[in-house]
Amino acid sequence: MFNNRITRRRSLWLGLGALATIGMSNKFIHTYYGGNMRALGETNQDFTVVGTASLRQRAAAKGLIYGAAANYETLSVDTGLANSLIQECGMLVPEGELKWGFVQGIRNQFDFTQGDWLANFASTHNMLFRGHTLVWHLVLPEWFDEIVNQQNAEGIFTEHIATVTQHYAGQMHSWDVVNEAIDIDDGRADGLRQAPWLQLLGPDYIELAFRVAAEADPNALLVYNETAFEYDTPRDEARRIAILNLLERLKSRGTPIHGLGIQSHLLGDGKPYFNAQKFRQFLADVASLGLKIFITELDVTDDVLAFDIDNRDRIIAEVYEDYLSTVLDEPAVIAVLTWGLSDKVTWLSDYAPRADSEAVRPLPLNSNFQRKLAWNAIARAFDNAPTR
Ligand code: G3I
Repeated sequence: MFNNRITRRRSLWLGLGALATIGMSNKFIHTYYGGNMRALGETNQDFTVVGTASLRQRAAAKGLIYGAAANYETLSVDTGLANSLIQECGMLVPEGELKWGFVQGIRNQFDFTQGDWLANFASTHNMLFRGHTLVWHLVLPEWFDEIVNQQNAEGIFTEHIATVTQHYAGQMHSWDVVNEAIDIDDGRADGLRQAPWLQLLGPDYIELAFRVAAEADPNALLVYNETAFEYDTPRDEARRIAILNLLERLKSRGTPIHGLGIQSHLLGDGKPYFNAQKFRQFLADVASLGLKIFITELDVTDDVLAFDIDNRDRIIAEVYEDYLSTVLDEPAVIAVLTWGLSDKVTWLSDYAPRADSEAVRPLPLNSNFQRKLAWNAIARAFDNAPTR
């Protein structure tokens, strides 16, 4: 029962909600879609890495950026995490501190204290800084429902985006301007989520957000960031189509959009559903619109994998290398960001915990900041990537 709940919650988060709500377990999904189940982790994939250079250095050697998300709460007190980020990362992303509910938790009082601390950490250590995120249906402030209405919505929306973007203008490499605007289960022909801003402003709220951000910071790369469309399932396929339609529409209207962010929260047991050829074609379609591609929130769940740590790490590393070797083949991909760096601090400890209560291992470094096979897999993918 407990395991079912975890699977359902994770499935919902990762966009497999329709299947989860009718009670299919992850294994069932495999049988349903995969057809090519095999024992995971049984290959002899070689994870040898030459030299000790950091991920940042290996990425930079190919004209790529490697970085990670971190939050103020842990980074400000954990020197092990700080040192690892300084060593491995060329870019830092605030995990939560720039979301609406954090920055403007109180109406008209913008609080940039933690965001500024993270921006300063990045510049002190010669890292690029990346904004996440200006518009999202989650982490809205408590005053939102009480105050925002049809009459004042556009003013509040544009004021927030302009204020936050202006504050970091000149410091921001790129912004996730709009995050997760698509939900094909919401029943709209365009696949857009029935998000609060859509209900208040109509579907052009997305274009408006990009225009306001571009005016406030003409130098940042402006990105549309989306989740849960990496696999070869009917649902992910429909989401890919909705994303391409949205991007095409934005481009055809001259919207100042420069990139697509692909979150890439991957499943440790997702290998049978990853169709490299189809996903590669999707990347080419995005690139043909003149857009750059960012891998923005990469990590690999291990909640349904068997306990054995060596085998678990090997399976996770396989997922990393298979995925990254496919996406880095597309020259429009310019950055790879993991959603955290060390297993010590990961959202998956709360959102996709293991039923056996053992610690999850989704990231490149273990909880003692040592490099794992996942690190090797990422390093190898960078070393083998074509130069940008
Ligand atoms: O800051 C408080 C802390 O003071 C308190 O002690 C603690 C007790 O629960 O809560 C802390 O707030 C948490 C916050 O993260 C900061 O750690 C929230 O409960 C928690 O819900 C929040 O979760 C974040 C989530 O977005 C919602 O903002 C995750 O860390 C973060 O990894 C996650 O990131 C999202 C991306 O923005 C979008 N894509 C999916 C991704 C993963 O969910």
